[in-house]
Amino acid sequence: MSVLVLGGAGYIGSHMVKRLVEQNEDVVVIDNLVTGHRQAVDKQARFYKGDVRDRAFLDQVFQKESIDTVIHFAAFSIVPESMKDPLKYFDNNTGGVITLLEAMHANHVSRIVFSSTAATYGNPEHATIKETDIQAPINPYGESKLMMEKIMHWADIAYGIKFVALRYFNVAGAADDGSIGEDHHPETHLIPIVLQVAAGKRAELQIYGDDYATADGTNVRDYVHVTDLADAHILAMKYLQAGNNSNAFNLGSSTGFSVKQILEAARQATGKKIPAKIAARRPGDPDTLVAKSDKAREVLKWQPKYDDIHEIIKTAWNWTQKHPNGFEEEN
Ligand code: UFG
Repeated sequence: MSVLVLGGAGYIGSHMVKRLVEQNEDVVVIDNLVTGHRQAVDKQARFYKGDVRDRAFLDQVFQKESIDTVIHFAAFSIVPESMKDPLKYFDNNTGGVITLLEAMHANHVSRIVFSSTAATYGNPEHATIKETDIQAPINPYGESKLMMEKIMHWADIAYGIKFVALRYFNVAGAADDGSIGEDHHPETHLIPIVLQVAAGKRAELQIYGDDYATADGTNVRDYVHVTDLADAHILAMKYLQAGNNSNAFNLGSSTGFSVKQILEAARQATGKKIPAKIAARRPGDPDTLVAKSDKAREVLKWQPKYDDIHEIIKTAWNWTQKHPNGFEEEN
């Protein structure tokens, strides 16, 4: 039996595929290569180029392969873009999962682990967020993912498709060996942008707002290493394969860092000056997002290996230095 990774050529998906291959799983990848990179996909995985919204294509893959569990990353995930173009998010993320679940149901595949997000909580009620806290997104990206969670819930009740929703906080870092890492066009995420400045590819970091309700006025986020995140998916897959019920887990480090603290940590990790200036707020940004992720540790026995933000940044810096132009491929 095989594991199907949708969005396996993307940043998190490609690290997932690498970890699965390292654990001797037979891996099938689907990606439409709109934001993913063919080169990022481990050569031992069988690759199919296609879209999650294309039912006939999904059926072909399910019929050709023997899929036990689906791990679903294929989604758009940029908060400011979702504010400008919400329908793009509802179409691909929410619409995509409807087609995927229909195809799974028709092809008798009944387990799925998928990427949800801290953005489903909106401006959280508590300093650290528990899975049972109210989910009230303040941007269309978070809304599209919350809708995915709700659709999965009803698909479980009706068709018995069991799911694990993993609500990621801010994913960062790169594979230990520097072979794969984060490569978005355009890049919008804080750590890769800070490292582009460190590498001399950008003049300065723009800090989007310093008047938030946080200690230094800049947004606070909870950064989790991409390999630790991938490992949590493997545990979630095993949890479902053991016959457990559908569930949702936060994945974070439980420690918050402000934008200014990340900048300082990057200066230390790289030894570079990294110029920065304060800019206007970016729409859709909550003040603080920090996870309580005891549940994943207790139920899934998840033990993240990276607990130092400098080490996380160093893995991303290693990737940036080894691949100054990213994947540089022709899709
Ligand atoms: N930021 C800057 N300057 C930049 C880029 C980012 O100040 O050039 C700030 C942002 O305003 C934000 C913080 O850095 O406060 C982190 O921003 P990112 O764009 O790196 O990440 P987000 O917090 O917006 O979103 C990420 C993922 C989402 C996920 C969310 C969950 O992209 O998919 O984390 O916390 F939902």
